[in-house]
Amino acid sequence: MDLGLKGRVAIVGGGSKGLGRACADSLAQEGANLVVCSRNARELDQAAGEIRAATGVDVLSVAGDLSQLADIQRLVQRTVDHFGRIDVLVNNSGGPPAGRAVDTTEAVWTQSVDMALMFFIRMSREAVPHMKAGGWGRIVNVLASSVFQPIDNLVTSGVTRMGAVAFAKSLSDEVGRDNILVNNVAPGYLLTDRMMHIFETRSADTGANVEDLLHAHSATIPVGRLGRPEELADLVAFLSSEKNSYTTGATILVDGGVVRSVM
Ligand SMILES: NC(=O)c1ccc[n+]([C@@H]2O[C@H](COP(=O)([O-])OP(=O)(O)OC[C@H]3O[C@@H](n4cnc5c(N)ncnc54)[C@H](OP(=O)(O)O)[C@@H]3O)[C@@H](O)[C@H]2O)c1
Repeated sequence: MDLGLKGRVAIVGGGSKGLGRACADSLAQEGANLVVCSRNARELDQAAGEIRAATGVDVLSVAGDLSQLADIQRLVQRTVDHFGRIDVLVNNSGGPPAGRAVDTTEAVWTQSVDMALMFFIRMSREAVPHMKAGGWGRIVNVLASSVFQPIDNLVTSGVTRMGAVAFAKSLSDEVGRDNILVNNVAPGYLLTDRMMHIFETRSADTGANVEDLLHAHSATIPVGRLGRPEELADLVAFLSSEKNSYTTGATILVDGGVVRSVM
C-alpha cells in the first residue's frame, strides 16, 4: 500500500532511539522527509545519518529538550526555515518520572506535566498554523497504556497523558475541517532502551535474572511476548498518512492485549 507520504515533512520527537526512532524509520521508508529531535546531539546526528543513508530522504536534526517551550518553538521554526512546511507531527518524547499518588512531590509533578502534557499541547499549538497554511496535517501523539489502566508507580503517566487525550479530542474537533487529523497511540510493553532499563532496574532490585523477568512478563501478555517498536511505528505511519482519511480523535492501543478493558 502506498501511504502517500512521499515528499511530506514530518517532525518526529525522540527520534534518536526507541519508539521515536522506529517511527522515523517507518516514515522515511515511505519517502517522508524528517526533522528529528532529542537532547543528545551526537546520538541524534548519528540516527539522522543512518536514516538518510538507508532511505535517501532529507533528515534535519535539531537537538533540544522537548519539555521546554523555547526548544519546541526553535524546532518548529527550524523545520519551517529548512523545508517551508510541516505536514506531520509525531509527538513522542521521554516519559515522566516514576511516582506514586500518595507522595509524588511538587517538583516531580511539575516536571511530569511539562514532559507528558504541555509537550503535546505546545507542539500542536506551534505547528498547527503551518499545517493550516498547507491545507493538510496529521498529528499522532505517543502516549501509554496508562490512559486505559494504571501502571504501578507511574501515576505521573496516567494523570498527564489523560490530559493529552482530552486535549487531542478537543483539537481534533477544532481542526477537522482544515484537513488535519489528530490521534493517539498507546503502547503497552515494547522492547526499547527505556523498557530494558525498567527490567534491568527490577533485576538489580530483586536479584532476578533479566531474561527470567522478561520471560515471566511475556507470560502475562495475551500474545505471549513484548512488542517490537516497529509494530507501533507502522501504525503511526498509517495514521500520519493520506491513507488515514477518516480516523481522528481516536486513541489506539498497541499492547498485545495487555489492557483488561472491553472498550
Ligand atoms: N517502550 C514502551 O513500551 C512504552 C510504553 C508506554 C509508553 N512509552 C512512552 O513512549 C515514549 C518513548 O519511549 P521509548 O521506550 O521509546 O523510550 P527511549 O527508548 O528511552 O527513547 C526516548 C527517546 O526520547 C528522547 N528524549 C527523552 N527525553 C527527551 C526530552 N526531554 N526532550 C527531547 N527528547 C527526549 C531520547 O533521547 P535523549 O535522551 O537524547 O533526549 C530518545 O530519543 C516515552 O514517553 C514512554 O514513556 C513507551
